[in-house]
Amino acid sequence: MSDNTLKAVLRQHAENEFAHELAALREADTHARPPNWVLSPWAVRTYLLGGKLDGGIEISPKYIGNARLMEIAISTLATDRALLLYGLPGTAKSWVSEHLAAAISGRSTLIVQGTAGTGEETMRYNWNYAQLIAKGPSHDALIASPIMHAMQHGLIARVEELTRIPADVQDTLITILSEKMLPIPELNTECQAQKGFNLIATANNRDKGVNELSSALKRRFNTVILPIPDTLDEEAAIVDRRVASLGRALELPAEKPALAEIRRIVTIFRELRSGVTADGKTKLKIPTGTLSTAEAISVVGSGMALAAHFGDGSLTARDIASGIIGAVIKDPVQDSVVWKEYLETVVKERSDWKDLYRACREAL
Ligand SMILES: Nc1ncnc2c1ncn2[C@@H]1O[C@H](COP(=O)(O)OP(=O)(O)OP(=O)(O)O)[C@@H](O)[C@H]1O
Ligand SMILES: [Mg+2]
Repeated sequence: MSDNTLKAVLRQHAENEFAHELAALREADTHARPPNWVLSPWAVRTYLLGGKLDGGIEISPKYIGNARLMEIAISTLATDRALLLYGLPGTAKSWVSEHLAAAISGRSTLIVQGTAGTGEETMRYNWNYAQLIAKGPSHDALIASPIMHAMQHGLIARVEELTRIPADVQDTLITILSEKMLPIPELNTECQAQKGFNLIATANNRDKGVNELSSALKRRFNTVILPIPDTLDEEAAIVDRRVASLGRALELPAEKPALAEIRRIVTIFRELRSGVTADGKTKLKIPTGTLSTAEAISVVGSGMALAAHFGDGSLTARDIASGIIGAVIKDPVQDSVVWKEYLETVVKERSDWKDLYRACREAL
């Protein structure tokens, strides 16, 4: 892909956006690599968690949080078990999955998006029907799924939202993961996975009970639960970092908001999520939606767009008020009550939050 086309895409794949970091890591990497891995587990860890290489090259952290979780995730992929990233919405499951695939295989795009309508052929293979009718089943008429492609080339495949896929279709994965092969009965043959093949699935625990993983399938995965960030500082740092890179990617002509403003938004989200104020003194009602880190990032992002295009370019309380309200009020009746109570008992009482209180009152 030429540089020009790269510049025009709205969102780059991890392996393109961070190509320079991956190349530097590859150069510096002296550790042993599992078969067909582009980087060693050590280098993949550095890519995910950030660090400084000997030549002075800075690797930006992609995942902020518990380093041990990333180590478990990476080492799982070097075994014969697949990796399941599980957790609340917006806890960076898809994000981590993309970066793991980019660092391990150099390619994050072999992806199956799980939906209620995902069929077996999406997981296995499909046919070019014109060829199938003209010549009958043949290798030429076969269209490999992203998973089959990953097996053929020893790469990492990704399955998003595994638990949204109907249970019988999920079970297609059992043979793939335990026998490391995919039968193709129409051609009386099979596709055997090459070394380096593995699978990263993500599942959202809000979908619990939709299509529970069968125990046979569960046994073939190591599950890593991605938590909500432990502390306000950590969560604010994640939002700060992501907003900066989103602002650059969207070329928003707005200043990156001050960390203090981001901390205020994150505080609101954390307090409502946990049902108690940060000082532990006031109990709060909890809204129905999940107020994830990802949503805090969107609130700041849309605030920056408002500030850039309809303000003076610096983020004000007015620019974030509607975003916060939109994130909190998912159920118009129940959540309105929760929000009004929070506004009147918490936001109003904080002396340095007067601007936000006014803006929220106006936006309601
Ligand atoms: N701990 C974290 N470190 C770095 N980024 C994070 C972290 N938590 C959340 N994010 C950011 O949140 C955003 C959303 O993450 P992502 O889309 O991967 O969530 P998800 O867990 O897949 O959610 P869903 O279940 O809704 O699919 C990403 O842009 C990611 O950068
Ligand atoms: Mg996701």
